[in-house]
Amino acid sequence: MLEQNSIWFFLSRRKALYGSLAVVLVVAALLEALSVGALFPLVTTVLGGDAAVRGGSVLSFLESMVTLFPGRDRLVTAVVLMVGFITAKSLAVLMRDYLIAYGGAKVVHETKQELFARLTQLPYSYFIAHSHGDLSYRLTTAPQSLGLMLLLFPSILAQGFIVFAICLLLMTISWPLTLGIIGAGGLLYGLLRQASKRVSHVVGKRRTAALSRELGIVVEFMAGIKEIFAANAADRWMSHYCEQGRELRVLHVQDSVWQSVPGVLIEWVFFVLVGVMAVLAQQSSGSPAASIPMMAVYAFALYRLIRSVSLLSAYKLRLGSQVADVGLLHRTLEEPIAVSPNHRAEEASFTKSVIFDHVSFVYPGRQEPALRDINLTIEQGQVVALVGRSGSGKTTLVNLLLRLYDQSDGAICVDGRQLAACSRSSWLRLIGYVSQEVFMLNGTVRENIRFGLVDCTEGAIEEAARAAYAHEFIAALPHGYETIVGDRGMMLSGGQRQRLAIARALLRKPQLLIFDEATSALDPTSEAFIQQAIRDLARDHTIILVAHRLSTVRFANKIVVFEDGRIVEMGTHPELLAMKGQYSTMMSSSVE
Ligand SMILES: Nc1ncnc2c1ncn2[C@@H]1O[C@H](COP(=O)(O)OP(=O)(O)O)[C@@H](O)[C@H]1O
Ligand SMILES: [Mg+2]
Repeated sequence: MLEQNSIWFFLSRRKALYGSLAVVLVVAALLEALSVGALFPLVTTVLGGDAAVRGGSVLSFLESMVTLFPGRDRLVTAVVLMVGFITAKSLAVLMRDYLIAYGGAKVVHETKQELFARLTQLPYSYFIAHSHGDLSYRLTTAPQSLGLMLLLFPSILAQGFIVFAICLLLMTISWPLTLGIIGAGGLLYGLLRQASKRVSHVVGKRRTAALSRELGIVVEFMAGIKEIFAANAADRWMSHYCEQGRELRVLHVQDSVWQSVPGVLIEWVFFVLVGVMAVLAQQSSGSPAASIPMMAVYAFALYRLIRSVSLLSAYKLRLGSQVADVGLLHRTLEEPIAVSPNHRAEEASFTKSVIFDHVSFVYPGRQEPALRDINLTIEQGQVVALVGRSGSGKTTLVNLLLRLYDQSDGAICVDGRQLAACSRSSWLRLIGYVSQEVFMLNGTVRENIRFGLVDCTEGAIEEAARAAYAHEFIAALPHGYETIVGDRGMMLSGGQRQRLAIARALLRKPQLLIFDEATSALDPTSEAFIQQAIRDLARDHTIILVAHRLSTVRFANKIVVFEDGRIVEMGTHPELLAMKGQYSTMMSSSVE
């Protein structure tokens, strides 16, 4: 079964620890049974009977341990014996709980680290295909379920061993009765198992799905808060959220009720069995008084057995609703990564050119290619502008350059090397990327420019801000570079965010700068600032400029016109005008 595999997958990460835990579990179970049995010499002593009572091999053995010290007071010896066993058992239980807690915490922690590391290696298309809620669920709630599983699973084994050890003890006292009880208990357990399997599996799956949908609604609400308020659509998210809440409420009730059913049923069976036992003992034994110590131990052992069985099934039910998450985690950890680790990946360089050679690209799940037979050379030091209607493939070309996707056909070469053969991080280090929608952290201006870069000085940050024409407005903010920008930079204007994004890109000292519609959403003043910044940068950078406002690309060394995934025209501004083709039509139709 797949989910069983997932449990072993996580346990086997700490083989030594869980191996020792298994030993401790066995020892603790044996001590548990012996400490129950140690009641026997105590009761016989209190009742003043002699040792000749039938009680089976284990009880006789314990009885004989007391008589080993004939000089001492028998009662004291019996008490010491019992306390000794209980103490040893308690120590073993402490050890067991420590190992369970330690192992669980360790595995969860390591799994989380590995999970995030794996996510960073997954292809971009994976993130497109999965909702934010789903991904957040995998990173936060699912590891919690793993923690619970790592607590429940060893606890189930612990109770299982105790059940086994106590059954052995009961068998040595009276095997026909015990077999009867095991038969009845087994049947009951089998029935419960069937029911629990069905319920907890279904409930667990539905709960996982509902929780991840709920998370998705919250994440979406937060991400779109401005548009949602503006569209006066908050009610829709509220009702979605409440709908999920209603479903979770029902699932919670189902889950809880089913968890308490086994305990109740088993207790009921226990009392029935005790009654049956009393009748049987009375019928089979000639002298009821002589069998009192045996009966007392038997009843107590039976009680312990029932308690363990009921814990066992309760744990099992709870585990049932966690394994769906554990399976999900396991699958996420084994998700195929973007690029098979290429140990011989070369260090990328960009001193000459980037060449697109007959490149085509089809998005995963699409039929129509987004790029068709693209041939394009971007020389180092040039400004190359990509223009064309919305949906013509400009951003797709940028996506390939950013290695978010690999081309379906053809080759992209940098300095004569296949881009695919270069290490992705060495290539991305050479690129600075600014898009239309700038992502901002809820942190200070400085943190937003730094954006995770560690080895940069304060001076470098300010220098980057100046080059992006951002220093002036930052200095005018209430706390300068330490001003908090709010979630997604809400406290800044679009133009200011854009300039911070440019500073962020420049701080990385890139050789190739990509601006994808960086000024499209801006007012003329902000746009002028950014235009100026781009012109300055063009002096010592290679620039790819995606724009739909043609006035902004006039100065480019090469203007590339896209149409329906193809390059239809290419040249400088005057050349393209002279062609009197698509570009000149676009030029004359655009109201500038
Ligand atoms: N992630 C995606 N999955 C599938 N199709 C996409 C994706 N992104 C863009 N497309 C499609 O690819 C085509 C080109 O889009 P794009 O390169 O973004 O155009 P442009 O940037 O020129 O406006 C469009 O038809 C668009 O619908
Ligand atoms: Mg685009």
